[in-house]
Amino acid sequence: MKYGHFDDINMEYVINTPYTPLPWINYLGENDMFGIISNTCGGYSFYKDAKLLRITRYRYNNVPRDMGGRYYYIKDGDSIWNPGFMPTKTPLDSYECRHGLNYSSFDSSKNQVEAKLTCFIPLHTNAEVHILKISNHSKEEKKLSVYGTCEFCLYNAVDDSNNFQRNYNTGEVLIDDHSVYHVTEYRERRNHFSFFYVNEKISGFDSDLDTFIGPMGSWEMPKAVKEGKSFSSVASGWSPIGALRNDLVLKPGEEKTLVYVLGFVINPYEEKYTKGGKINLIRAKELIKEVDSEKKAEDKLQELKEYWKKLMNIFHVSTPDDKFDRQANIWNQYQCMTTFQMSRSASYYESGIGRGMGFRDSCQDILGFVHLIPDKSRERILDLAAIQSEDGSTYHQYQPLSKKGNADIGGGFNDDPLWLVACTSAYLKETGDFSILDEKCAFDGKSPDKTLFDHLKASIFFTLDHKGPHGLPLIGRADWNDCLNLNCFSKYPGEPFQTVSNYESHKAESIFIAGMFVKYGEEFSDICFHLGKDELGKDVKDQVENMKKAVVNYGWDGEWFLRAYDAFENKVGSKDCSEGKIFIEPQGFCTLAGIGEKEGLGKKSMASVKKYLLDDYGVELLSPCYKSYHLELGEISSYPPGYKENGSVFTHTNPWVIIAETKVDNNEEAYDLLKRIAPPYIEDKSEIRRAEPYVYCQTIAGREAPHYGEGKNSFLTGTASWSFVAISQAILGVVPTLDGLKLDPHLPEEFKEVKIKRIYRGSTYQIHIKRVGKKSIAVDGRPVDNNLIKIEPGKNTYNIEMTI
Ligand code: BGC
Ligand code: NOJ
Repeated sequence: MKYGHFDDINMEYVINTPYTPLPWINYLGENDMFGIISNTCGGYSFYKDAKLLRITRYRYNNVPRDMGGRYYYIKDGDSIWNPGFMPTKTPLDSYECRHGLNYSSFDSSKNQVEAKLTCFIPLHTNAEVHILKISNHSKEEKKLSVYGTCEFCLYNAVDDSNNFQRNYNTGEVLIDDHSVYHVTEYRERRNHFSFFYVNEKISGFDSDLDTFIGPMGSWEMPKAVKEGKSFSSVASGWSPIGALRNDLVLKPGEEKTLVYVLGFVINPYEEKYTKGGKINLIRAKELIKEVDSEKKAEDKLQELKEYWKKLMNIFHVSTPDDKFDRQANIWNQYQCMTTFQMSRSASYYESGIGRGMGFRDSCQDILGFVHLIPDKSRERILDLAAIQSEDGSTYHQYQPLSKKGNADIGGGFNDDPLWLVACTSAYLKETGDFSILDEKCAFDGKSPDKTLFDHLKASIFFTLDHKGPHGLPLIGRADWNDCLNLNCFSKYPGEPFQTVSNYESHKAESIFIAGMFVKYGEEFSDICFHLGKDELGKDVKDQVENMKKAVVNYGWDGEWFLRAYDAFENKVGSKDCSEGKIFIEPQGFCTLAGIGEKEGLGKKSMASVKKYLLDDYGVELLSPCYKSYHLELGEISSYPPGYKENGSVFTHTNPWVIIAETKVDNNEEAYDLLKRIAPPYIEDKSEIRRAEPYVYCQTIAGREAPHYGEGKNSFLTGTASWSFVAISQAILGVVPTLDGLKLDPHLPEEFKEVKIKRIYRGSTYQIHIKRVGKKSIAVDGRPVDNNLIKIEPGKNTYNIEMTI
């Protein structure tokens, strides 16, 4: 069953009922200010950091779940309704929500009044703009009261939701004819404030929540709206809100547009106040002036749409499969941009008040957006490197505002360092900008003369310096699988599984990290050779060979790769185990890294994946699931069977298998797996999957779970970047290398003809692949016998004809 449809021309998902199984969300913002918005206008806004600078309030664990947001009330006689349906839930005559690329619009009608609301954050602007167009399609004059509302958060979202003894005293606002300014704590240490503005002079206002909603009231039917009034309340303490009323008279056929601005302003400390001692509102007024008419706001919206069109033009494919194209050209790349912005910090499942930016997460995200925003990738790589220590270990997370490593969680996740090699290598292959390696980059704030290259080297040697009894990498607290806690032994409820660390075995080894080392050790040595550091390159290459041998000797279980050795040197992920016999991660990663190629291990491993792990929605993480808690394994066995790391389709890992399948030339299997996981292919199962049909979820409940097929934790998942790598590089075979673009397609049989446009290092590559049963490549009509397209300086366009 579907609840909407894709509009490929406008790059939108169109939802035609507010009753989606879960709130279906979208993101607003590109730079510093961001918003989450659901298909019923729920969500919240923040500046840079969803925890420390939250602009609007969101109540966690609320009922209904999706409450609080940008709510517009239209009072038309006795009928009161919202363009996004919530919170009045008044039945609408028509409803449509369109989630586009960083904007969302709502088009609803009731009693021949139509309301079109479009919400977005203009490029480089610290403001959410809401354009509300109201039309009277009836034959009579309509007298309407329109209430634009928002509830302010007292900035620190954690404090806001628990420190009531203080917070109920601190709230302060200023009010003028168009706006409510939220200035809580400005009197002391804050130099910023937010505001809510409408471009028409208001007919009335409220700024105190309790007054607006009335005794025992709620957002569902505020007293003021019900009575068609405003109470001119000026918030002092309690909960400051912006509730702006505009009374409109619309003749038959008349349309009226209001532009609302939810803005955030930072004043330099020395300019907090005017000479007269008043709060300095100049920057707010300037911000408002940029968007205070329908024309200005529409122009900004257009600018945003153009920005996205340009981005989506960098990689564009046309195959015989619409769904493949839709995923590759629009939604996969959009989700990659979202994971770039948010890492795993703010969604409807990541609270925005928990972990900040994950180290390994952010490194992997770069693989999916480096072609879109290389400059920001460069900056991100250097930020990430800065939380690494000289021995190569890294903090596991950092806060986006301070960019400092998160001391609460610390480090000890032994895969982390290698991901820095992965993203830097991807950056080099995309851009050819080797100067990044010479950037000065201190280790954890110390030794500022060190360069990014030193960081990569430290990452590689971290693995080499931390090997266990079989010559395989030690796992530490966990590797990619945060829940495989082989040294932690957590016994007490509430203890964090990963950080309890009461048993440092120096024995537990990870075959997954071994796979990573082979892949990224090889990439690092290629970088060394490229730089003329042959000795180091050769040394690392030898170590890679040793690692391959160690995996073949001690990491192969007969039909598949083992997962790990635990603290007592027992096998994890082996046929000898009674549960968790086979895990996906080493199958994907060791095969894609080419381990055991000669011995045919990859083919066998892929066959085992198919036999034991493949379900209708992808490849499950492990099988059989753990039925009880295993102290020696940790969090992985804490989840009920079929959920999360305990045997769901943990989607992030599936593109590894897709890539691995292409590595062993199983092209049909690769395509088949993509079709099981990529959202457009399962749109018609939305009642089962429940999550948004336009983005990946972190997990899809596995066969052993009661809700088999249900998606959870949508949007912020490393699946986005890896899936884009799988689609663009493994299946379509457009592979950036240090020396230029290489073509190595692994297309399914039914793709007879494929056209790809790729902008790469400033030039446009028009690639045309035809299946004729014979291999050839011609560049601008000249046959070439190498699939690495030679870069010719100054050349703007490469026309490539390829036959397979
Ligand atoms: C989740 C993991 C997550 C880890 C660290 C666990 O509870 O299941 O997916 O990576 O916490 O935040
Ligand atoms: C989600 C985390 O964000 C990611 O870093 C981790 O690799 C996966 N969970 C698997 O545990």
